[in-house]
Amino acid sequence: MSHQLSVIGTGVIGNGWIARALGRGWDVVAFDPDPEAPARTRAFVDNAWASLERLGLAEGASPERLTFVDSLEAAVAGADLIQENVPERLPLKQEILAALDAVAAPEVVIGSSTSGFKPSDLQQDCTQAPGRVIVAHPFNPVYLLPLVELVGGDATRAEHTEHAQALYQGLAMRPLVVKREIEGHIADRLMEALWREALHLVNDGVATTEEIDAAVVYGCGLRWSLMGTFLTFHLAGGEQGMRHMLEQFGPALKLPWTKLEAPELTDELIDKVVEGCEYQAAGRSVAELDRRRDDFLVELLGLVQKYWPEAEGLEGRI
Ligand SMILES: NC(=O)c1ccc[n+]([C@@H]2O[C@H](COP(=O)([O-])OP(=O)(O)OC[C@H]3O[C@@H](n4cnc5c(N)ncnc54)[C@H](O)[C@@H]3O)[C@@H](O)[C@H]2O)c1
Repeated sequence: MSHQLSVIGTGVIGNGWIARALGRGWDVVAFDPDPEAPARTRAFVDNAWASLERLGLAEGASPERLTFVDSLEAAVAGADLIQENVPERLPLKQEILAALDAVAAPEVVIGSSTSGFKPSDLQQDCTQAPGRVIVAHPFNPVYLLPLVELVGGDATRAEHTEHAQALYQGLAMRPLVVKREIEGHIADRLMEALWREALHLVNDGVATTEEIDAAVVYGCGLRWSLMGTFLTFHLAGGEQGMRHMLEQFGPALKLPWTKLEAPELTDELIDKVVEGCEYQAAGRSVAELDRRRDDFLVELLGLVQKYWPEAEGLEGRI
């Protein structure tokens, strides 16, 4: 039976959802007011398709199963799942989600890709079936990374979340149901903490963008892709695991190592960070870097599966 994903807003993340759904053999109907959007999306899907092929396409999967339409109403007709990916501005999201809720059949889940807003705030102006409006936060590149954080708001009941879990599993994802709504959900809280510290290190002249990236790539990042923060530190405690780790390194938690409050984004800091990234990119385009990252991620996903096969929900999926 064929499924349809409706995608609202086709920037980096909307396009990622489109590529994922097409790779799983779904039909996709998309809406974006930018007249350049359809051409941009087709180029994006072309760039992503080789990695999707290497991962294994579902039967009938084809880039041809994408249609662009020119209204929200046309976009949601026949949808099994609606995914909202407009820019991260709360009033805009509230307006678009209320409009989608008004025109979409009441049983259809509407997921928002929001990186930080709480689902209850997103549901606020929805009048038909607000409970089905949930946070469904993915990770770039959406067509390769399996995690999607699902967060329900005040109006959401367990059956909405269960229905959403099944739909995102149908897109070969690994849903993580976040039990309590907070700004930034789980993963963005973690990434934001690292990001703020990294900006301080550049701002204070301690390290360049390249040096900080090297610390992640050749150090902690390699471990994190298999075990995450907690299990990694469990191993750092030797035979006694986390208990010894906390005894040994616990006192450092009291030292003023981290700042967490972000530095002011001055023109000087922006220039340093942008010039640092351009130097690291060394003339390679973002599309070229995307392909290199994708090739790496496809192999890395295989390695995670090989070395952690018992990880619940990952078997046979990406
Ligand atoms: N970029 C990331 O790494 C990332 C990761 C996870 C989640 N997100 C979230 O995904 C969402 C989209 O982010 P992005 O990075 O793709 O942004 P983007 O700027 O790349 O794309 C936004 C798209 O929305 C379109 N748009 C603007 N107004 C619209 C409207 N009224 N109706 C329909 N489309 C409209 C724009 O034309 C554009 O194509 C945000 O909520 C963001 O927080 C981003």
